[in-house]
Amino acid sequence: MTSEKTILVTGGAGFIGSALIRYIIANTSYRVVNIDKLSYSGNLQSLESVEKSKSYIFEQIDICDSNQLLSVFKNHTPDIVIHLAAESHVDRSIDGPDSFIQTNIVGTFSLIEEAKSYWQSLQGEKKETFRFLHVSTDEVYGDLKSSSDLFSEETPYNPSSPYSASKASSDHLVRAWYRTYGLPILITNCSNNYGPFQFPEKLIPHMILNALKQNELPVYGDGKQIRDWLYVDDHVSALLKVVFKGKIGETYNIGGNNQTQNIEVVQQICKILDELVPINNKELNSYSELITYVKDRPGHDLKYAIDSKKIQENLGWKPHENFDSGIRKTIEWYLDNNRWCENIQNGSYKLERLGVN
Ligand SMILES: NC(=O)c1ccc[n+]([C@@H]2O[C@H](COP(=O)([O-])OP(=O)(O)OC[C@H]3O[C@@H](n4cnc5c(N)ncnc54)[C@H](O)[C@@H]3O)[C@@H](O)[C@H]2O)c1
Repeated sequence: MTSEKTILVTGGAGFIGSALIRYIIANTSYRVVNIDKLSYSGNLQSLESVEKSKSYIFEQIDICDSNQLLSVFKNHTPDIVIHLAAESHVDRSIDGPDSFIQTNIVGTFSLIEEAKSYWQSLQGEKKETFRFLHVSTDEVYGDLKSSSDLFSEETPYNPSSPYSASKASSDHLVRAWYRTYGLPILITNCSNNYGPFQFPEKLIPHMILNALKQNELPVYGDGKQIRDWLYVDDHVSALLKVVFKGKIGETYNIGGNNQTQNIEVVQQICKILDELVPINNKELNSYSELITYVKDRPGHDLKYAIDSKKIQENLGWKPHENFDSGIRKTIEWYLDNNRWCENIQNGSYKLERLGVN
């Protein structure tokens, strides 16, 4: 690796993008250009540890704006693009799908068009080694009916929510730009992530922060929905394996092999909090007494589970954390990073559950 090589990350102020950038700056000699429009879920405080690095550049840009994208490609001449910018919350997509169509579909279209023109203008090794990695979700596959089924890279798409349908559309666009124009793309479909710096509307931080305030812990339906949880740094290591070692045009599923019911996740959070921050309140013996069941979200998929054999066998990736170790680390991070959590909650987000009306 030479120091002048550049990775363009979209959505780098979000949960996964910021973990990716912190990792690249700490562990490689690549320069990172982060383009992010700073929507409600983008937060530059998640990048404080790298903001002074000479290898880090931030540009506040909307990926739907082709003119600004053109300048970014021209000025920074990236070697690699890792595309994470998206509207990412299923509940918000139910309340208002427009921004999901704009960013996830139209924005991805603008980005691959600019990436294609830029790539076509390159020559020699820079052209041969250019890669565009599109980061997607296992939710494009819909839900699994049988308890033994797993999503493989061959599973047909069957998205249920406006979010997953918009991500599925963007995957199709990216694949078509490979088939039609030869753009050297790779796609990853990953299961639910958790870890530090996750915006508190998502299940795990939502429950941790509500429990600490001794608020109710609202669980959708009967809480038996199964998700395959992956610690965010394991997702980051998988993305780097795919972008450096993956085969052009291929899709790689990424999962943690930690299939857990939502209610079990919430109970485990309560158990660890009981140990780390014992309740000092006569009316409450355990955080688990705060659990309540609320009306399920429409179209709620019952089960996701990923078969990640391909990335494990072909690229030698495997997750480092299991759910027990990852959830404990995550809770400890939220306990130690009060300022980040308070700043987020002082903004527009007040720990409500969305998408249930
Ligand atoms: N979180 C998960 O469990 C998970 C799992 C699999 C895949 N993914 C995918 O990974 C990616 C990142 O997810 P996340 O959880 O970090 O999301 P996030 O919501 O935390 O971050 C998204 C980032 O994109 C930015 N953004 C939104 N619209 C933009 C636009 N038009 N132009 C530029 N920037 C824009 C936001 O400001 C934010 O910083 C998404 O593409 C998501 O679909 C997420």
